[in-house]
Amino acid sequence: MATLPDPSRAGGAMPRHVAIIMDGNGRWAKARRLPRIAGHRQGVEAVRRVARAAREHGVEVLTLYAFSSENWRRPEDEVRDLMGLLRHFIRSELAELASENVRLRVIGDYSVFSPDLVELIDNAIARTAGNDGATLVIALNYGGQAEIVAATRRLAERVRGGVLSPDAIDDALFERELQTHDLPPLDLLIRTSGEQRLSNFLLWQAAYAELLFVDTLWPDFDGESLAAAIETFGRRQRRFGGL
Ligand code: IPE
Ligand code: IPE
Ligand code: MG
Repeated sequence: MATLPDPSRAGGAMPRHVAIIMDGNGRWAKARRLPRIAGHRQGVEAVRRVARAAREHGVEVLTLYAFSSENWRRPEDEVRDLMGLLRHFIRSELAELASENVRLRVIGDYSVFSPDLVELIDNAIARTAGNDGATLVIALNYGGQAEIVAATRRLAERVRGGVLSPDAIDDALFERELQTHDLPPLDLLIRTSGEQRLSNFLLWQAAYAELLFVDTLWPDFDGESLAAAIETFGRRQRRFGGL
């Protein structure tokens, strides 16, 4: 991933890389007097809709925040429900991802998930690795700070091993250590549900992304909402520090 998006794309209508903080499932359920899991189930439907719509719009990469490194703080049964939905999503979606030529990627440390889920995820990644139509990135047990710390640690090891000089560490070299290193720069970061914070998502990558906060709760977000977001992006003037 290049440090900054290519300025020649400034004013261009189409974001290549869109990321979404999918928030508001619980409030969606609460408003209907339903259990939170019902909101998460509808949230999965929104994922299917929006992933399809993103491909139709020609978005190259869609990165979805599905489980943050802080979400372990939720009650055990909710975490279990979320893992169950993830398992179900991968099982049910794999065929479509394969037939639609979509490559599945994961950022975050999912190695701590249950072994069967890790295997399922690894298989889905391997089975779609050769697809080049679009990329769906799911952030699982992801934290932006942990990603930066891990990158720093790897560089420090190389310095200690005598194969890297501290002077050689610059933005581009650092970026190569991030899990997003081979993805296009983040153009548009959307958060649903009216909250206006990053919650530890893509901290480095968001440096020059356009931020869009919408009130829509994630289960209500659809292809039209995405089209509206892309249109808003197209009207933004990106300057990257220039004039
Ligand atoms: C987002 O919805 C889903 C995840 C974080 C997994 P929430 O569960 O955070 O919904 P609210 O914020 O409680 O409404
Ligand atoms: C951010 O939503 C994480 C995901 C969408 C996966 P949260 O609902 O967990 O964020 P906070 O706790 O309100 O910041
Ligand atoms: Mg939330």
